[in-house]
Amino acid sequence: MIKRSTAGMLALLLASTAHAQVAKPTENLAAPVKTFGRVSYDARSLMIDGKRRVIWSAEFHPFRLPSPDLWRDVLQKLKASGFNTVAIYFDWGYHSPKQGVYDFTGIRDMDRVLREAAEEGLYVITRAGPYVNAELSRGGFPGWLVNQRGRARTDDAAYMAAADEWLTRIDAIIARHQINNGGSVILHQIENELALTTSAQRRYMDHLYAKARGDGITVPLFHNDQGRNGYWVPESSTVANVVHGPNDLYAFDGYPGGTCTAQGKPTRGSAAPDWGYYGTGGAKGGASASPDTPAFLAEFGGGWFDYWGSNGGYDCNAIQRGKRFQRVFYGTNLANGIDIQSVYMGYGGTSWGWLPAPVVFTSYDYGSAISEPRELRTKAEEMKQLGGLIAAVPDLAGMVPAGEPIVSSPNVQVYHNKNPETDARFLMVTHKPSNGSTDDRFTITADLPDGRYTLPAAEPMRLNGFDAKWLVAGVTIGKQRLVYSTSELQAAMSVDGSDLMLLYGRAGESGETMLRYESAPQVRVLEGQATSRFDAAKGDLRLDYPHQGRAVVRVEGGGRPPLTLILADEAEAVRYWRQGPALVRGPALVRSVTLKGGTLAIIGDTREDTPLEIWAAKAVKSIRWNDSAVATRPTAIGSRTAERNLAGPAPISLPTLTWRAAYGSPEAQPGFDDSMWQSAEGKPYASITARPDGQPNLSMDAYGFHDGDVWYRGRFTGTPDAKQIALYYGAGGSGMVQVWVDGRFVGQDELPGGLPRPITTGTARFDLPASAQGTGEHVVSIMVRNNGHNWDLDSDDAHKEARGLISASIEAPGGRSFAVPVAWKIQGKQGGEDLPDPARGVANNGGQYGERTGWHLPGFDDAKWQAAPTSVQPGTTWYRSRFDLALPKGQDTTVAVAFGDTDTPRSVARYRALVFVNGWNIGQFIAHVGPQRVFPIPEGILNHHGTNTIALAVTSDGAPGDMLEPVKLVTMRTVKGGLPVRMVDAPQRIEASK
Ligand code: GAL
Repeated sequence: MIKRSTAGMLALLLASTAHAQVAKPTENLAAPVKTFGRVSYDARSLMIDGKRRVIWSAEFHPFRLPSPDLWRDVLQKLKASGFNTVAIYFDWGYHSPKQGVYDFTGIRDMDRVLREAAEEGLYVITRAGPYVNAELSRGGFPGWLVNQRGRARTDDAAYMAAADEWLTRIDAIIARHQINNGGSVILHQIENELALTTSAQRRYMDHLYAKARGDGITVPLFHNDQGRNGYWVPESSTVANVVHGPNDLYAFDGYPGGTCTAQGKPTRGSAAPDWGYYGTGGAKGGASASPDTPAFLAEFGGGWFDYWGSNGGYDCNAIQRGKRFQRVFYGTNLANGIDIQSVYMGYGGTSWGWLPAPVVFTSYDYGSAISEPRELRTKAEEMKQLGGLIAAVPDLAGMVPAGEPIVSSPNVQVYHNKNPETDARFLMVTHKPSNGSTDDRFTITADLPDGRYTLPAAEPMRLNGFDAKWLVAGVTIGKQRLVYSTSELQAAMSVDGSDLMLLYGRAGESGETMLRYESAPQVRVLEGQATSRFDAAKGDLRLDYPHQGRAVVRVEGGGRPPLTLILADEAEAVRYWRQGPALVRGPALVRSVTLKGGTLAIIGDTREDTPLEIWAAKAVKSIRWNDSAVATRPTAIGSRTAERNLAGPAPISLPTLTWRAAYGSPEAQPGFDDSMWQSAEGKPYASITARPDGQPNLSMDAYGFHDGDVWYRGRFTGTPDAKQIALYYGAGGSGMVQVWVDGRFVGQDELPGGLPRPITTGTARFDLPASAQGTGEHVVSIMVRNNGHNWDLDSDDAHKEARGLISASIEAPGGRSFAVPVAWKIQGKQGGEDLPDPARGVANNGGQYGERTGWHLPGFDDAKWQAAPTSVQPGTTWYRSRFDLALPKGQDTTVAVAFGDTDTPRSVARYRALVFVNGWNIGQFIAHVGPQRVFPIPEGILNHHGTNTIALAVTSDGAPGDMLEPVKLVTMRTVKGGLPVRMVDAPQRIEASK
């Protein structure tokens, strides 16, 4: 065995690396350990209880899943998919409808999600804002904050006082769940992508750091830099040209990897970036900006968001950043020493109600590993394999470059790292450049801990197409010595004094595994094909086999405890789950395995009739699957199999929806009683939007209406010259305005959606009807749909862009405006900032008449409503349907509401609908904009075993054909298994106010 000192190894590395520059200077690798209770770090990695850990994390937003019983489902799926950490954004606005008012109950119970994450064995990275971005309206700022004049995200006193209100509360919750206090929070983020660096922002950052510490947050603190810009790097960094800030760790985010085309097709994408050891980014480049803290990607794109008017990009995003992307990109990050890596998103979920920023529509599926209806996409299988490797080889944490090996093909590169303490190796094999897609055969020659090898010894290895291999060498696993393997390690387990390893490779490729023994061991091929040879001089046992289905090899003697090797192709390997004290093959998901008193209890899901095979201790006397006994028998390969297949889900049948309807825009009528509405005057103007002189402050936020729809009614005295009304309005991406004069619809205007920044304000002119052109009193009624406030990505107060009307003027022909005073009244959501329905909360409602009178709620009595109309009126028409569901128990089904022809992203018909299920606004459908037509409803919002109500608020211009298309319930997925889900508690009715 060749042993080298660490210093010697580093010298070798510096001499032999062919990469132009080691971006993270290796001399800093001796940086001292900094300790924050149970969490500590040095330059190489985070440590928990003094043990180095690769932090392999995925992002989840509980606020995007308003059924808290399902949070655990997502957490378990992340855990089962190999993640050891979950990163969580908290949305300030979600908890605070009004300054000083906060809610952390029900769907807002953040204590619960943190507790459950710990129970599921996940570490947590908390990201508490105050600003989070996250494609949320106002980037997560509360509605009321837009009425503050001072610049947000600076040390403006009013802003900081507001932020402190939030932080005091959320920090108190987070503090309880820190690993230092018995929970599992290990890292905490204090701001997000604050990319300007004024002194006011520096003071603000100092304040945020002090606030977190003052609130009892004791784990390391960080900021998430938007890319590798060197913003808010810890003071300890001596690198020039970076912006220092009050952080313990430097973290950044990145979304490389190409995009989908407008047609929804993946592009080839760029090569994986070297953002750590192997990069050439210069002083500001990634991990190098802070050489004495571990490299930390607080977000790495695991998908991408989709926007109003696209052709439907989520499935494409899932492919673009899918299986092979993950292998190449996450592997390259790991090879670069990025030992803290968080995939954004692990589960995207739903931007329900008025959560979405103008840029996105309701679904925040993101193309992530867990889809919006909570299905594990195939890309999750590969995450499980990387997570399995990280769990099986703790030596991967804190590795450093070990010198470039000789690779026989110019098209292939190998990142070669070593653990300075154990000398274990990581060989990340990919194309050169890594987005290459040729079919290459090659060998690797390297000085490995157990000697110099050219591997494989038999046939060359193959890298076929865009792909990477995560190989390890010179590692001790259990009591075995893995000299190298050209197969990848997915799982390992030691049980009853024997070791088990699950290795896999691409179907049809050959694999070679070299193990070290004192003397010739006995090798038995129990299943499939494999050959072995022993080199007595070195003590090397070489196994050669094809990756085809499965081979099982048992090695005994040779001076080591017995070893079982499961050698699988990929399709076979992804069927295995390493959970608790067992390795389980078969089910679509294994959530947990526990051993108690001789009974092995396995909990999981099946998608179909499924065989079950288990490796576990001999002490296991009985096996239970989802609380039912399973009869098993031992196999010749040391496992046990179930005598009978596990059952799959029963078929689902869903009712046909029938509708009653009522017209819901009575505000349009001149005689409508608006006496209780606020007068739109006299409120201070805090918006950044310039408004023409002499106009009253019409912006909806000034009157306490921050989300959804708002109505205006204006009274004016006509003049014979008055021909038009000109409006300037703010409404977010794909927002709109509808206008009536004296009860006559005069038209509507819609804003386009689209990236990168949607058009969020608009101007429109409407002709006044002849009857309104004369003298006399007239009434103009205007409905503005506010599709969200801008985010504050550039910390320029863009979230304070005005919403609702900005100005309105009566004009003569040619656009000459008169000083016709209009007495405006305004009405938005019922109660404004004082919510009548705090359970559903701030994001659920806007100011439609039907919302103010409770038509969206299940308890509303619609007996007097009519059958669905056959023609359409301008304005909003409500449809309600009541139906019973009796879905199979013990089954996890995601039911969705689907509009029209789900094969096309857009309809010819021009209309939009707010979708309320049992009172919950689960999204907005815009028929002619698209692309989302199918709206999943989480169980708990939908009652799978009882009565449900769907209410649709359908808004149209009234043109023939612009009306609701057929709406049906569809099943997006169903499995047998799942977790018990209770209905989310929320009122059945509210007191109407018009
Ligand atoms: C990041 C940001 C996230 C999210 C993401 C894109 O830059 O930190 O909040 O907006 O981009 O989905």
